[in-house]
Amino acid sequence: MKRAIITSALPYANGEIHLGHVASTYLPADITTRFLKMTGTEAYYICASDDYGTPILIQAEKEKKTPEEYVKFWNKRDYDDFTAFGIDFDLFYRTSSPENIAFVQETFKKLMQNGHIYEQEIIQFYCKFDKKFLPDRYVIGRCPYCKAEEQYSDLCEKCGRVPEEIEEPKCSICKNPPTKEKTKHYFFKLTNFVAELNQWLDADSHLQKDVKKYVQNWIKDGLVDWDITRDISWGVPIPLDAAKGQVFYGWFDNHLAYISTALKFLEGKGLDGKEFWNSADSYHFIGKDIVYHHYLFLPAMRIGIKKEFKLPDYIPTRGHLMLQSKKISKSRNWYIGLKDFLQLYPADYLRFYLTMITPYSQDDLNFDWDEFAARINSELIGNIGNFVNRALGFTKKSTGGTIPSADILDSADTEAQDKIKKLAGDLTLLMEENHLDRALKKIIEFSAHFNQYFQKKEPWKGGSGTNNCIFISVNAVRSIAISLYPFLPESSQKIWTQLGMQGKASEQKWESMSEILIEKGHALGEVSPLFKKVEPADIQAQKSKLGQ
Ligand code: MF3
Ligand code: ZN
Repeated sequence: MKRAIITSALPYANGEIHLGHVASTYLPADITTRFLKMTGTEAYYICASDDYGTPILIQAEKEKKTPEEYVKFWNKRDYDDFTAFGIDFDLFYRTSSPENIAFVQETFKKLMQNGHIYEQEIIQFYCKFDKKFLPDRYVIGRCPYCKAEEQYSDLCEKCGRVPEEIEEPKCSICKNPPTKEKTKHYFFKLTNFVAELNQWLDADSHLQKDVKKYVQNWIKDGLVDWDITRDISWGVPIPLDAAKGQVFYGWFDNHLAYISTALKFLEGKGLDGKEFWNSADSYHFIGKDIVYHHYLFLPAMRIGIKKEFKLPDYIPTRGHLMLQSKKISKSRNWYIGLKDFLQLYPADYLRFYLTMITPYSQDDLNFDWDEFAARINSELIGNIGNFVNRALGFTKKSTGGTIPSADILDSADTEAQDKIKKLAGDLTLLMEENHLDRALKKIIEFSAHFNQYFQKKEPWKGGSGTNNCIFISVNAVRSIAISLYPFLPESSQKIWTQLGMQGKASEQKWESMSEILIEKGHALGEVSPLFKKVEPADIQAQKSKLGQ
């Protein structure tokens, strides 16, 4: 049996999940996992909250909470929001788990033994007003590469690079220029891995071509070793006597939680975790802002422990979601919280719209309220919902819901049947290549074809082609239910129930969408409209909330 481990970028336990997070990362990963499971792959979707790092410590301090309390709250809240959105993790854990702490410390020791860690005295920003070392976000300034102002010292959000030294630094707490003090830090020798990273990137693989190019250029520009030490109290303790009071940088420990969390889950199922990991296809779904970490830092660390855990096969990287054509920003309150959205519309509406607008590329995408309403009303409801309701509703009315036998097929019937037979193959290719948007559009095309077919056959006139029309249309509805499952799990199950089928939509074999399995004599369940239209007045209210 094929195996797969799917992860998506671990969300910081630091504030609510919003639409920007789910579009590029959690939703595509969830759809892919559900798809793989239906194809018979033993696939698991693993995630965790990313609990460490200076921003979390800073925020907990502000709210007068311990960082433990603070991350516990967000871990649960994030999980609940994801669940309401139909994101179905096999395990959602945390980077601050005892398992991850132990795994990170062991990994560090192995890297050290293998000659990839060195110590160096460095000069670190220090704020004499706040009496603190000032790592990462505690310092803001100008990016030395692209000259963007107001960037954090650990990541330039404009150009995506990690500045070696930020220009015109200021303390983020009190805004005074910091002083500099000596401290001893551990470095990860990223520069040891240039040859192997290049080899990995050059190989013919499933890695995204455009992203690879980008990363290869970074390597050409020259890599710098990573300072993996932080002089703060919140983090995985560095397991050396000489490093008392120091912790690892969050990006040293967080991606290791992909592995430690997977091991916990797999071992909980009585499986050999390491063996599973190494025989599975691995997918790490990310947004384009963390390419550097996933295409350089993460593989280098795995190579550094002699590939005890294999390198990723897929790192699907997607662009940023904009909101009404403007960059999403939590601090400027320009975002829509996932929880708030789900109080307005069903999860499947959002899953549908976001999938439709999110290509498999680094291009940015845009959430637009009017477009949301238009696409839900015309494509989800006007096309798919309409066909399903028409086919099932007509059958109920004309036969009481019992499927008649088909007669000799005419050319329209044969064409329609061929569409059913081809559907799985068409979709599989797109799904395997991660083109989830194109796959969903194919399902819409399929449904559009059947709307036309139904219209052309005019079964309401009771002519000789009526039985064929019912028989084939109801089977097409079954195909739609199965194919929609990864995308719209709730609606898929609703259709399944209305069809009067046994078992659950999720338990169906993906390939079986292309079979004609509903036979004469089968009885439909209760039939009712699947969806409710999005009202323009409600959309206007949402736009007004945003000041539009
Ligand atoms: N928390 C990080 C972010 O939101 C992502 C961590 S992904 C992992 O940018 F690989 F590091 F775990
Ligand atoms: Zn200060």
